[in-house]
Amino acid sequence: MTFQMRKIYLFLFFVSAFLCPSEAQNNVRADYRIIPQPQRVETDTTQAFTLRDGMTISYDAANSEVARNAQFLQQWVAQATGLRLTLAPTDKQAAVQLLLVQPTAKKTKKGKKGPVAAEPTEQEQEAYTLTVNAQGVTLSARQPVGLFRAAQTLRKSLPVRPASQQAEALLLPFTTIQDQPRFSYRGVLLDCGRHFFTVETIKQFLDVMALHGCNQFHWHLTEDQGWRFEVKALPRLAKEGSVREKTVIGPGHMRIYDNIPYGGYYTQDECREVVRYAAERYINVVPEIDMPGHMQSALHVFPNLGCTGGPYAVATNWGVMREVLCGGNPETLDFLKTVFGELCDVFPSKFIHIGGDECPKERWQKCAKCQAKIKELGLTSDPKDDGKGGRGSQDGRSAENKLQTYINHEIEKFLASRGRSLIGWDEILSGGLTENAIVMSWRGVKGGIQAARQKHRVIMSPNVFAYIDHPQLKDYGKQPRTTDSYIVSCSKMHSFEPVLPDSLTAEEQQCILGVQANLWTEQVAYPEHAFYQLLPRLGAMSEVQWCRPEQKDFEDFKRRLPRLEKLYERLGVPYCNQVE
Ligand code: ACM
Ligand code: ZN
Repeated sequence: MTFQMRKIYLFLFFVSAFLCPSEAQNNVRADYRIIPQPQRVETDTTQAFTLRDGMTISYDAANSEVARNAQFLQQWVAQATGLRLTLAPTDKQAAVQLLLVQPTAKKTKKGKKGPVAAEPTEQEQEAYTLTVNAQGVTLSARQPVGLFRAAQTLRKSLPVRPASQQAEALLLPFTTIQDQPRFSYRGVLLDCGRHFFTVETIKQFLDVMALHGCNQFHWHLTEDQGWRFEVKALPRLAKEGSVREKTVIGPGHMRIYDNIPYGGYYTQDECREVVRYAAERYINVVPEIDMPGHMQSALHVFPNLGCTGGPYAVATNWGVMREVLCGGNPETLDFLKTVFGELCDVFPSKFIHIGGDECPKERWQKCAKCQAKIKELGLTSDPKDDGKGGRGSQDGRSAENKLQTYINHEIEKFLASRGRSLIGWDEILSGGLTENAIVMSWRGVKGGIQAARQKHRVIMSPNVFAYIDHPQLKDYGKQPRTTDSYIVSCSKMHSFEPVLPDSLTAEEQQCILGVQANLWTEQVAYPEHAFYQLLPRLGAMSEVQWCRPEQKDFEDFKRRLPRLEKLYERLGVPYCNQVE
């Protein structure tokens, strides 16, 4: 470089620093105001650690989970910024350290152990501390999952650089972040019954969930329109039950079809691969077999399981079907135990979802087998409950709804023998809850309130706040067509408060395990559309799931969103770029 050139160079540097210092700095400067917002962040913006290309990440290589999290962090830093950090197990001088800190048992004066500390809650197990000081960056946690959460926080704090301008150094302001989630259950449902999504798409979905701190993937595997789970003892079930002859296009009542057969199911090996991939990202897979309603695909294969004996077709239109499993046929329970048995073999989840929603009872009211079973069990309708068919029939204490509770009870015992707990949609309240049932409240919050008052565990997923199959913008013309009866805007979702102090006592509030967003897919046939529905609303939902209510501020959320959106772009996932 000649002297003259250097002068020009310096001059340009000063001009750019003078004119737009913040923008220049923002490109290489971390910002800890992320989504979901951590519980406590104390930052000193006057001092920063400079993280440079080639610096090292140190970790305990003897712990394979910690080692994996170090690799994740290495990949994420490179992906967002281009900075290539080196993995250096046990390097005490490393710029970034992943440390597991085991809580030390307190000792009394005489050297005896003090009082045993209370078992940490599930949320405390996920806690972490992230510090940046002159020595570098330290991620510390009592469990590897905490290190994973800390690494996600660091990743989201980094500036996302265009591939053409990858950084050689980043400024990380000094900080101490202490964080843990508010709720232990932070879920997202993907309906793979109405439309089938490949394992590759599901992995991408899981990555996006993990980015938002979610830890429960509710996999809706069976529907009237398609059975997606391989059951080895019943090989025809998935082969034939997964295929529908055609699919309705546009509004269902118009009855216009595409006349194209549609199918797809997951082999058990594929399901295990999803479980493995999810577990590496600290996500549990909650599988759902929806019964005794939403079973037309199974009835197509086994018409003997229906009250009328069929024939039945795999459904080609959407809605609530009156054809359901026969509640009085002993073969129904044999079938369910075979299916749930294999489900438990494949999915280690402590929660198994049994559906239970939208099971009209008009067939049961007229079916000799169902009525004989009701008589045998001595079930009676409570006064004033006529249990008439249709969707509303799930809401009363009719003998038929109590028959559904009987089936739930049999399945609850079966699942308990495998060490599992049952989750059901809030309709399972109608005929009476089984002993340990967990209620997923979807028709508003009232089912959740009712269940918590009975001291049952609850997951809140009220449709008007949490159903992301619905539009997110007021202007329907600006977004892909989807379920359109009401709008679930980002701000609406963000405003949801799942613990209801006006309705629940402090003890009842403890029953609220968490919150879930649901992506039903009647109108969502492609992965691009699925991600568009999901994002950025999952950002809003993640603050409901993770943050304390007093921390939430939607205007501030909007200010923090652009950096996350850049990461969505880097990950190649579509999102709605407007927020209301
Ligand atoms: C549901 O949306 N039918 C649970
Ligand atoms: Zn029947």
